[in-house]
Amino acid sequence: MTTLTRRIQTHYNLLAPFYYGLWGRHVHHGYWTDAVDTSDQAAAQERLIVELHSLAGRPQPGRMLDVGCGYGGSLQWFAKNTAAQGLGITLSPVQRLIGQFNLRRAGLHNRVQIQVADAQQAWPLPAQSVDLVWCVECSEHLADRLHFAREAWRVLRPGGTLCVAAWLAGTHISAAAVALRQKVEQGMLCHPFGTLADYQQWFESAGLQPTQTRIITPHVTRTWDICIALRDQPLLRWIAPLFGRDVQAFTDSFTALRRAYEEGAMEYGLLVATRM
Ligand SMILES: C[S@@+](CC[C@H](N)C(=O)[O-])C[C@H]1O[C@@H](n2cnc3c(N)ncnc32)[C@H](O)[C@@H]1O
Repeated sequence: MTTLTRRIQTHYNLLAPFYYGLWGRHVHHGYWTDAVDTSDQAAAQERLIVELHSLAGRPQPGRMLDVGCGYGGSLQWFAKNTAAQGLGITLSPVQRLIGQFNLRRAGLHNRVQIQVADAQQAWPLPAQSVDLVWCVECSEHLADRLHFAREAWRVLRPGGTLCVAAWLAGTHISAAAVALRQKVEQGMLCHPFGTLADYQQWFESAGLQPTQTRIITPHVTRTWDICIALRDQPLLRWIAPLFGRDVQAFTDSFTALRRAYEEGAMEYGLLVATRM
């Protein structure tokens, strides 16, 4: 395991109770229709899943794999709304523990499970064994997205679908915007973000056909207004430095992230590809 991968694992282990307590069973952005949408964060997070699922033409998988599944929030959504069975992989044993507990409590543990595995290695599934590969906000942590796309191709059955929600690099941006984006990448323990075109290129190189893309940045930025307000609560401000340099840099980067969206240094994208 590389040093960065180890730090990512430590981050999600250490902060798992906080993420879960403050943010619920999804560890990803929310989607708000417009400025007057009054959805709370949990509803908005669920909406992001619905938007990605809709963009893909509402696939009804028999079996699925969720890469970087967190507490299995997406798996739960699929288990409740479709007949899917499946597996999620995460780097974090603590996320797995909380996620498996949730799945058991919801009576879904016989249909969907969570396993600890590094998505940068071979994925723990046979070739052509799933109809859907789902990946929400994990590919940013992966060093080699071509490996990610190749593994997606390998485990997907012909006709199967890859759905990705990702933080993207903005294009044609100034040096100052690049520096802002790099602050976010470092604070969030990510490898340099890819552009939409980079992802499409990785998919095509792996033999996947990109079918749909959608940039939804204005719908998701409110996420960071909420995170910044949480971070700035006196108790959390006091606690954060106690968790060490990485957590301090992580919370510090919230403001940069909000600005990066505003200034076009970053975008938020949904992508769909098919294995022919
Ligand atoms: C921002 S969270 C998203 C979690 C989940 N997809 C969701 O939307 O709720 C990022 C997730 O990626 C996982 N992750 C990061 N690097 C990984 C790797 N190399 N292999 C497997 N999972 C990884 C983390 O453990 C975490 O669960």
